[in-house]
Amino acid sequence: MIPPKQVQDILDATRIEEVIEEFVTLRRRGVNLIGLCPFHGEKTPSFNVNPTRNIFKCFGCGKGGDAITFLKEHESLTYVDALKWLAKKYNIEIQETERTPEQVAEMQLTDSLYIVNEFALKHFQEQLFDTDEGKSVALAYFKQRGLREDTIRAFGLGYAPEQRDLLLRRARATGHNLDLVKKVGLCSQDGGRDFFRGRVMFAIHNISGKIAAFAGRTMSSEKTIPKYINSPETEIYIKNKTLYGAFQAKKAIRQLDECLLVEGYMDVISLYQAGIENVVASSGTSLTEGQLQLIKRNTNNLKILYDGDPAGIKAALRGLDLALEQDLNVRICLLPDGHDPDSYVQTFGGDAFTKFTTDNAKDFILFKTELLLEETKGDPMRKAGLVKDIVASISKIPDPIKRSLYLKECSALLEVSEQALIGESNKLITTVLKKRDEKAARQPGAASDYPPNTGGYDWPTEPPPVGDPTEQIGSFPPRREGEGMSRSDEFQERDIVRLLVQFGNQMLDKEGVSVSEFILSDIGESLSDFDNSLYGKLASLCYDLMLEQKNTDHNYFIHHAEKEISDLAIDLLTSPWDLSPNWEARWGYPLQNQPVPDLNFDTDMRQALDRFKLRKLTKLCNIVNPARIKTASDAGDIDEVMRLMRIQEKLKSTRNELAKKTGTIVLPK
Ligand code: GTP
Ligand code: MN
Repeated sequence: MIPPKQVQDILDATRIEEVIEEFVTLRRRGVNLIGLCPFHGEKTPSFNVNPTRNIFKCFGCGKGGDAITFLKEHESLTYVDALKWLAKKYNIEIQETERTPEQVAEMQLTDSLYIVNEFALKHFQEQLFDTDEGKSVALAYFKQRGLREDTIRAFGLGYAPEQRDLLLRRARATGHNLDLVKKVGLCSQDGGRDFFRGRVMFAIHNISGKIAAFAGRTMSSEKTIPKYINSPETEIYIKNKTLYGAFQAKKAIRQLDECLLVEGYMDVISLYQAGIENVVASSGTSLTEGQLQLIKRNTNNLKILYDGDPAGIKAALRGLDLALEQDLNVRICLLPDGHDPDSYVQTFGGDAFTKFTTDNAKDFILFKTELLLEETKGDPMRKAGLVKDIVASISKIPDPIKRSLYLKECSALLEVSEQALIGESNKLITTVLKKRDEKAARQPGAASDYPPNTGGYDWPTEPPPVGDPTEQIGSFPPRREGEGMSRSDEFQERDIVRLLVQFGNQMLDKEGVSVSEFILSDIGESLSDFDNSLYGKLASLCYDLMLEQKNTDHNYFIHHAEKEISDLAIDLLTSPWDLSPNWEARWGYPLQNQPVPDLNFDTDMRQALDRFKLRKLTKLCNIVNPARIKTASDAGDIDEVMRLMRIQEKLKSTRNELAKKTGTIVLPK
């Protein structure tokens, strides 16, 4: 358990942008920072970080929260581990109180799996560095392959001797749960033998540096035994979301804005050692969508290094359409005959490697076209197939401008008219779109006014006009099911609760009361009539706080125990609208006629209240009161009808006054 005082210290030290920047590239946009959301695939940034309030929010997928929420979601950490992560980052030493056996038992399964792997890593490292056998066999092997000791340590390399159950015995002696040892695949299912024996070991880290799995390489060149064996998939090792080396590489990838992809563990390690740190490996399989997203979080530029024969390369290229769909810029570099990245860099050094790969990398589409063209020389039938293949790849690119450039370029290379290629490409795109629409229509609750989903085809819409001060930086927050915004008063209600959360505490100079006091004493009696029950609930919460004379600080709502309340608060605090940085650049002066929104809450509040009241009044005028009149008249209650008619007159004139004030046109009814 972490003492509450220390929890507070950690939270106080935490700056959300510093935490998120470890995982996402952020750009400044006004007072906020924006980037590509790490929680869903997207091409235009709608992920917002607000340093002032210490929260984040994605307007694309709706995820939001504080630094703890981010770490919980992004790194799959528990609350306590998220705190520990932050403590480590900010150099705060945690004095944990002793865990009781119950608490130990309660520890999350994933935590305990990591602990077992940590134990195993230590064991493999001891065997490598501290035993005679390890030194003479395994350490010598790594050194003979050109690795330095600091590299060997940085990548968590180790050694598993040939003995039958060395690790198992150690695990037993140190009180580790053998079921967990089994579960992470470190021993046979009957618990009788170690899984990794007589192999040099490679730790496979997850993106935040924890040990997710191991790979063991045989040192023998005997062809009958598998070169590598790997840990099985577990809760903490999902192969198609893991890239070997990503933890060590992520910083360099972001700095250099490029990711190098190689095939083997040894390639990653050798390059890293030579100072080329932005490198990851797919571990021999073709790239999956999860792996691409991992890359995409850090850069749009992917350079793939291939060795090997053309047949193998051709097969590998097929999987790369997925990268195009993600709108990555993919380049391919073939290494000279007989070299893989490891051997090249060990032979010629890092500088030569960088020069070679820079000079020889080719755009993926053009590379593919040239490669296939070479093969189909003089065979028109095969060439027709090739044209289709290339156009299929190009059609995967979401950006229409890029697409048309490629079509033009390939038309020249293939000697096929550009028009024919465009026609073919349009056909493919239409088919995919149609399929997607059918799929969407089949899904229950698919509303017709929903924006098209952002699968592979995220056609860019018109960009917002330059200099528009309300430039939209993402899509609108996703609507909840059943939210008929236009029919109900939810826009106005949302505005009211936004003011309560955002500025509730601020004092109004003229009235000498706070914003929430002002609002709630004005419309307090409408709280139970909110169309949106969640907004009503938050407003009522605020009302109760006011009655108890308590502060209505936005932190109260952000950290509210009920998730729907805290989610809503975060939603409200992170407006998808922001002042465009272009405004100032274009017009040469800052917005002078209007204070920035945060300082403008007084006017903001009065206008919101007017709009809210106008909405409610209109409803009374058009629906509620006429219905009452009808009921009274049906019942023959003339007095009541007359009374309601007088109310109706009054309502109408108040409404019209208010409409004039807010500049709203009231349609005659
Ligand atoms: P070295 O031969 O030591 O240079 O290893 P390498 O990492 O360069 O391996 P290689 O280029 O032969 O293979 C590329 C990647 O494919 C490896 O890093 C492994 O991830 C994977 N791989 C290769 N052989 C095997 C195998 O026998 N079994 C499994 N599961 N994976 C393999
Ligand atoms: Mn190799």
